[in-house]
Amino acid sequence: MIQHSFQVSYNEYSSVEELSDSDKLLAEKAREACKSAYAPYSRFHVGAALKLENGVVITGNNQENSAYPSGLCAERVAVFAASSQYPGVAIESIAIIASTEVFKLSQPITPCGSCRQVLAEYEHLAGKPIRTLLIGNNGSVWIIEGVNQLLPMMFEGAQLKKS
Ligand code: THU
Repeated sequence: MIQHSFQVSYNEYSSVEELSDSDKLLAEKAREACKSAYAPYSRFHVGAALKLENGVVITGNNQENSAYPSGLCAERVAVFAASSQYPGVAIESIAIIASTEVFKLSQPITPCGSCRQVLAEYEHLAGKPIRTLLIGNNGSVWIIEGVNQLLPMMFEGAQLKKS
């Protein structure tokens, strides 16, 4: 028997004020996008803003639907928009933030499994890590230097190819 293990690490900042100007701007864009989320069912609003390596910033927010599974998370709205408008351009970073009047969010939210898988595929394709900035409402920010940290043993497209 061989035991394998993964180590995951992230940096925690106590406020967005500690971030670089470009990270602060991305956090601000995500916050702005969060305001126009369409989330009448969960009342859980999420905003995402990603920066491409060509400098373009693309935002997204969650889009819900009365047929519940038909909706989409903020991260995938942003990532799919980026890939459709700028195919093949690497994503440098993504900022994610949530807000809800229903309960108090005590820490930054982390992307769901499906969003991790989608982000990880574009990261893998580009061969460069996507810095992931999780922006909390109480000021704290968690930065993960690559989606591979969030999804070890991701499912890879290469496994679909016939030998
Ligand atoms: N949601 C996101 O947009 N991103 C996440 O990372 C977690 C969840 C959305 C999906 C749904 O519209 C609402 O938040 C509640 O799950």
